[in-house]
Amino acid sequence: MKSQEAVRQRIDELRELIRYHNYRYYALDDPEITDAEYDELFRELQALEKAYPEFASPDSPTARVGFPPLEAFEPFEHPVPMLSLENAMDEGEMVEFHLRVQKLLGVTEPIVYTAEPKMDGLAVEILYENGLLVRAGTRGDGYRGEDVTPNVKTIRAIPWSLYAHPEAPPIPSVLTVRCEVYMNRRDFHALNRQREADGEPVFANPRNAAAGSLRQLDSSITARRPLKAYCYGVGVLEGPAFQTQWDILNALKRWGLPVNPLSRLCDGLAAALDYYRDLEARRADLPYEVDGVVYKVNRLDWQERLGEKTRSPRWAIAYKFPAHQAQTRLRDIQVQVGRTGVLTPVAHLEPVPLAGVVIRRATLHNMDEIARKDIRIGDHVVVQRAGDVIPEVVRPLVEKRDGTERLFTMPAQCPACGGPVVRLTGEAVHRCMNRNCPAQIEGALRHFAGREAMNIEGLGKQIIHLLVERGMVTTPADLYHLTEADLLKLPGFAEKSAQNLIQAIHKTRRPELASFLYALGIPLVGTYLAAVLADRFGSFEALRAARYEDLIAVEGVGDKVAESIRRYFENEDNEKLIRDLFEAGVRPKEATAGKTPQAADEFWKGKTVVLTGTLSSMTREEATERLRQAGARVSSSVSAKTDVLVVGEKPGSKLQKARALGVAVMDEEAFLKHLP
Ligand code: IVH
Repeated sequence: MKSQEAVRQRIDELRELIRYHNYRYYALDDPEITDAEYDELFRELQALEKAYPEFASPDSPTARVGFPPLEAFEPFEHPVPMLSLENAMDEGEMVEFHLRVQKLLGVTEPIVYTAEPKMDGLAVEILYENGLLVRAGTRGDGYRGEDVTPNVKTIRAIPWSLYAHPEAPPIPSVLTVRCEVYMNRRDFHALNRQREADGEPVFANPRNAAAGSLRQLDSSITARRPLKAYCYGVGVLEGPAFQTQWDILNALKRWGLPVNPLSRLCDGLAAALDYYRDLEARRADLPYEVDGVVYKVNRLDWQERLGEKTRSPRWAIAYKFPAHQAQTRLRDIQVQVGRTGVLTPVAHLEPVPLAGVVIRRATLHNMDEIARKDIRIGDHVVVQRAGDVIPEVVRPLVEKRDGTERLFTMPAQCPACGGPVVRLTGEAVHRCMNRNCPAQIEGALRHFAGREAMNIEGLGKQIIHLLVERGMVTTPADLYHLTEADLLKLPGFAEKSAQNLIQAIHKTRRPELASFLYALGIPLVGTYLAAVLADRFGSFEALRAARYEDLIAVEGVGDKVAESIRRYFENEDNEKLIRDLFEAGVRPKEATAGKTPQAADEFWKGKTVVLTGTLSSMTREEATERLRQAGARVSSSVSAKTDVLVVGEKPGSKLQKARALGVAVMDEEAFLKHLP
């Protein structure tokens, strides 16, 4: 037992150390210790703070991943108003802007502009006092926003303290930095997939996702969202004087703040227009949404001379990219049933060309979205494609209504199986409750066969549809019992193609553990988490036997995920699917690569284990002894409390009982691997 004083000292020391290493890592980009060493310090501090809550402190570095939830946001006054920007919609308007600038300044020499990608996120102002992050607020109406300090502090890219770079101007005593908080498209899609699986409403686009994530009263939610930021300007600045916007951007960068590396200096209008064309050509390949280019007169003295209008400065303009939007007619709203039974309303449109493709369908997300946008069947609508996001219906053209439009209601019966449709309390989505619904079965099979799952080559949507329609396959396990003769009964199959598909199916019988876990479609377990779980638990048996506490101890596994995994393995249908897959010869490989010895040591601690059958490598007494040493309780009969049944040769009725109860079963090979 440590004395209170010793604990306190260690806590202070750890906080100091972590702050220092944060600085090395985030501000200097020059870490002194490895990530693992950092994690160790961090976890030690977390553990101490948990055990000694009397030493908790709101400015502890651990607070970065969560502050106590707020009741409501406090107002955040912008010391210098955050203006908005005038837009140029085409080249003509850009030329006008440039000529106006020239005329107002009364100069004939070329005007140098900074060109910065206009990030599509939400604007935030961050106040640094003597280099330390003090407060942060959203833009709001430009004069007053919301104080979102704890939330902004969870964004990894935003330093808590600025770095005094030797080649940068000294750090100002007071500085407000303006930045755009955004989310990468990939992260946005992943977040939406997770929300969908979770029965939560999806975000319509990355900007909404970023805004929704930042404006959370509970900052621990923000901390789990993959937010990023790019800084583009300053508000208040007490200290060094700058000559140009370009110098400001460079200083921000050197002080450790993220600045978009695609920003450039453009010498004159022609160079500015070239930049626009280049960026637009790269737009689809950028990891984030950009809705145009922001041009600013580079010289600050000229900016001052040009001055401001009420809402926007005269020295800057946003030259917007054409929105990929078009108008068309919403013919019908049909409902699609996904693998988890979620019903998604899909807009069927009169085909319309948009950004190089013909759009026929667009997602409407869910009932709430349809109601919020007041979209009706028969409406003329605006549709849009943002980057690679699936097209969506933006809004109805209400003025074009003629009274024949109809409101959409969710069907009470599943369109695929006629089963009951319900909207569970707290869920934004409607679900088909029939587990035998063919649409769900097809969805599950498509997921199982998918490239990131079992990767069964040649097993596409059409074939899956035929197999399910004809009742030849109802679960993924059935795939492994298909024969060439079965496939030859389907249209389009010849001897060779049937043979190929059967071979492709059988080739997947020894999947990587991570792929197998993902293929099962455990709610909330995507490819990334599947890989983490495979790495941490090493074998399927170990994961199946993992208790809630074991799961939650894994970095990246939260409460919901841990519960979801437990619920998955406790479900009888899933239990049967796994048994059937194993009986069909599917055996995921063990993932030993990243497994830490500690994982093996800890595995048995507190678990109730039963042995059955004869082990070839040791006697039952020996096995019992080793399990006890590893911290397990060895029991003689299987019950619902049993965590693992270890099976040797010729197992008895215990195996049947364990299976009936859904107890994890481990064969000798796996057992040996898990012994410390
Ligand atoms: S400068 C007085 N630069 O666009 C100048 N804004 O419509 C004010 N934005 O509220 C803004 N990237 O949310 C500026 N490189 C950039 C920007 C940018 C995105 C957003 C920002 C602002 C809005 C103005």
